[in-house]
Order: sequence, then C-alpha cells, then structure tokens
Amino acid sequence: MPSPATQLWSASDVPLAAEALRRGETVAFPTETVFGLGANACSDAAVRAIFSAKGRPADNPLIVHVPTVEAAKALVDTSDDNVQEHFHALAKRFWPGPLTLVLRQRKDARLSTVATAGLDSVGVRIPSHELALQLLLAAAVPVAAPSANTSGKPSPTRAEHVLRDMAGRIAGVITDGNEIAVGLESTVLDLSRPPPYTILRPGAVTLQQLAACVGSANVRASGGGPQQDVEGAPKAPGMKYVHYAPTAPLHYVNGAVEVLKSVVDKHVADGKRVGVMCPESREFLDSGIRSDRVKVILCGTENDVESIARNLYACLRRFDSDEDAVDVIFCFGFPREGLGCAIQNRLLKASTNVIDSSSVG
Ligand code: TXA
Ligand code: MG
Repeated sequence: MPSPATQLWSASDVPLAAEALRRGETVAFPTETVFGLGANACSDAAVRAIFSAKGRPADNPLIVHVPTVEAAKALVDTSDDNVQEHFHALAKRFWPGPLTLVLRQRKDARLSTVATAGLDSVGVRIPSHELALQLLLAAAVPVAAPSANTSGKPSPTRAEHVLRDMAGRIAGVITDGNEIAVGLESTVLDLSRPPPYTILRPGAVTLQQLAACVGSANVRASGGGPQQDVEGAPKAPGMKYVHYAPTAPLHYVNGAVEVLKSVVDKHVADGKRVGVMCPESREFLDSGIRSDRVKVILCGTENDVESIARNLYACLRRFDSDEDAVDVIFCFGFPREGLGCAIQNRLLKASTNVIDSSSVG
C-alpha cells in the first residue's frame, strides 16, 4: 500500500495544521530549538502515532507544549508553596523559550498516559517560535511533541530534515520558519522533586541562568556537575537511549589536536574514509589534518558558541548524505562552558566512545 502523502504547509496554512492536530493527526512544526512532531496530548491514539512514526521507545515521556502560562497551570500541580514560587519565577523569566519544566501532574490534567509514559509528572514548555505559538493557540489542545526525527538520529533543524525522516509517515509539516534560533533541544529542569532541582537535559538555558533565577542552592546539574551531567548514568526515563547519532560511528576526541591528528592518520592509513567535525579554530587550521582523504565539516566558529549549536545537527546529518558519506567520524574541539555544556552532552550521547591521549599511547 502506498504511504499517505505528507502535506507541506506554509506559514499561512497554520490554521490547516491546527485542524489536523485537532483531528488527532501528527504535525511537524518549527520551534526555536528544533522541529517538533506534535499530536494532541490528550489522545492516546494521536500520541501513539508519534511513537510509531519515530520508532521511539514507549517508556520515554514526551514534552507537552502549550501557548500560555495559564494553559500550563491547567496541567501541572503547583500547590506546594516552594514549587509555586519557583515555577512562577522560571516561567516569568524563561517562557516563552527553550526551557521545559517537569512537575507533578494535576489530577484533572487528562493527559494521555501514552504521552507521559505513565509517570505522575509531566514536562511542559511554551516555545517562543512565532509559528509554534500560532499553531498552539489555534489548536487549543496541549500538544505532545518530541523532536521530529527518526528515534536515535540527529534532531531536525530544517523542514528538509523532517521530510527526510518522516515523509509518508506523518500528516504534514509546516515548512516555513527555518530560521531556528537555538538548534539544540530545550533545557529540562525537574521541579517534581524537592530542591535542589536537577537539570535532566542541558540546553540553551544554562545552569548559571537558572541559578540566577531561583538561587544557586536550588538547582544543580544532573549528578552534581557538568561533567557527570553529560557522562553520568541515566537518571530519568528517556535518558538511557543512544541519541543524535549519524550512521557512521562517531568518536569524541578529548585532548590536544595531536591526538586528533594521530587517530585520523591511522584511519587514513588503514584505507578508511574519514570525517572530522570541529568548530573553525586556528589550532585546527594549522594542524595539517585537512587533506583529500579527510572530509572536514566545520561547525560554526570557536568563539561563537551559538553558531556551533545552531549548526550541530545539520553537520551531523551531512555525514549521512551520499556525497559526504564516510566510514568513521571524529569530533573535536567543542566548547564546554555555558551552552557548550549542551553541545558536549549531545556529542557524547551520539558518540560510540571517547578518545584521549591515553587511547593513542
Ligand atoms: O526543545 C525541545 O524540547 C523539543 C522541541 C520539539 O520542543 N522537544 C524535545 O522532546 O526534545 P523530546 O521528547 O525529544 O525530549 C523530551 C525529554 C526527554 O529527555 C524526556 O526524558 C524528558 O524530556 N521528559 C519529558 N517528560 C518527562 C518527565 N515527566 N520526567 C522526566 N523527564 C521527562
Ligand atoms: Mg529528541
């Protein structure tokens, strides 16, 4: 049987996309972080269609998107005084924007247990992208939306990425609004347990910004520090799966440029098609690693961490295109502070291993 056609909607078609959501269909739409794949969060059948389009494991809960703080408050329980104060402070400071807050659900929230993976908590977010807000207002239902990629693949930051993974599997895509500001998924902060609140996933809203809002004693990176945050054991459902990975194995190179040069030279000598992904930096350009045998993809510039975040997933996806196909990829030299923490988190989750000077001897 031929797959149903996926509709392509422009900005002026947002009302059509909203109607599709209300009918229980799956709609991909731009947000300021990545493209989301949305469905009515109150309908089991609608949400199941997201999981099947993505091939996503059922125990990984979805974020529920709403257009206003009032709509969020209809879903989450803020009766605890502490939570109420912090929820309002965070919402005022960071919404609309790239922050997801996990709270206990209200008893009358009526969210699909498929969306929340049966948990008594829920992650909610108000995106700031203009088309996302228009869609959520017009749909007038809470919208469950993970990133609109095949499970395990890099998240989509352009409509063409969505179509590559999802054409024929979903009702439609809003193809306008590709000017995505962030390029990495939202920061997820857990307010469902007493403070200090844990960052379950780092993103554009940093630990430092959260601490400035609710006090540094009230928030912490998962596992207590940024390093464990990115390398630690799964802390919550949905943190245990391989993510964001291109097809060829990706190795995270930790250390000086000589370490990178040594592993690249070895693989080239073994006849492998080698890919290198790194921000543009003097250190790299002077290293002599560039050659006919190495496919180099420069991902933003060293001093502009936001450009790196915006380009990261598109660069990872490029290694899957025919003309850029390689056997092995090394990533190198990415920043680790502030937004760099989120970049490192995604790269480590996409990597098969970490190479440092001890691995090359
Ligand atoms: O930027 C984003 O957040 C994008 C756009 C589309 O909004 N969405 C997104 O959704 O990245 P997804 O489903 O790929 O990521 C959801 C993350 C997962 O790590 C999941 O485990 C966590 O949020 N999460 C959701 N609900 C949770 C809950 N109740 N408890 C703990 N973690 C939760
Ligand atoms: Mg995702």
